Amino acid sequence: MRQKIIAGNWKMNQTLEITHDFITELSEKINQKEKSKQIIIAPPYPFLERAVHWSKGKGIDIAAQNMHQCDKGAYTGEVSADMLYSTGVNAVILGHSERREHFGENDEILMQKVVQALENNLQVIFCTGESFEQRKTGKHFETVQTQIEKALFALQAHEIEKIVLAYEPIWAIGTGESATSGQAQEMHAYIRGNLSERYGKAGAEKIRILYGGSLKPDNAKEFLFQKDIDGGLIGGASLKVVDFLKIIESC
Ligand code: 13P
Repeated sequence: MRQKIIAGNWKMNQTLEITHDFITELSEKINQKEKSKQIIIAPPYPFLERAVHWSKGKGIDIAAQNMHQCDKGAYTGEVSADMLYSTGVNAVILGHSERREHFGENDEILMQKVVQALENNLQVIFCTGESFEQRKTGKHFETVQTQIEKALFALQAHEIEKIVLAYEPIWAIGTGESATSGQAQEMHAYIRGNLSERYGKAGAEKIRILYGGSLKPDNAKEFLFQKDIDGGLIGGASLKVVDFLKIIESC
């Protein structure tokens, strides 16, 4: 049985004060049952170290939303995996479509980032997903397969087990227009099939695959009970405790 993950990607939202209040309120409200799930929030960089401090021992893991692929050097404005780990951050989101689109992150860079993150003991949430155009023209499976193969398939079996995948169809992100649970399950099963071909069935069965894209309190249950959906990566609905908690409680 794979442990479910509910992860909130805050993107460029919230303040330090809101981060404090969010963690305090959420940790008071998550009960014993919720503690069987892995709960992650990914605040912006400036709040990470405090977020780690506030969430310590409260059943909430803290992730970064990005990191640089090099270990150190003259990269003004960038943050390394080692720096994140040294602040107590547990995980990092890599390959989000917004990073691929606005910041030119390609498969090669992402492969380097994944290796850096693993070398620094960070859990990786690796995002993959197709555009509307790619889905319309039937290229969604091929697109996702290529993204995964290029960035991840050089990893050894013991390394891939530390990766969490997140299928986020770009056309469903922030649009209010989620994929159907059937479309999501179909893609998740396809991804697991690919992992199985590369790493064997037993290895593939251990890997968690999250769905992201307009996941909300009122549609979460339908997604989170699909066979190959092991949790959610949530944007908009992770910004308020009340919504995020409802999603946590729905799986
Ligand atoms: P929304 O939940 O706002 O659609 O965002 C999803 C996402 O991009 C999470 O990484």
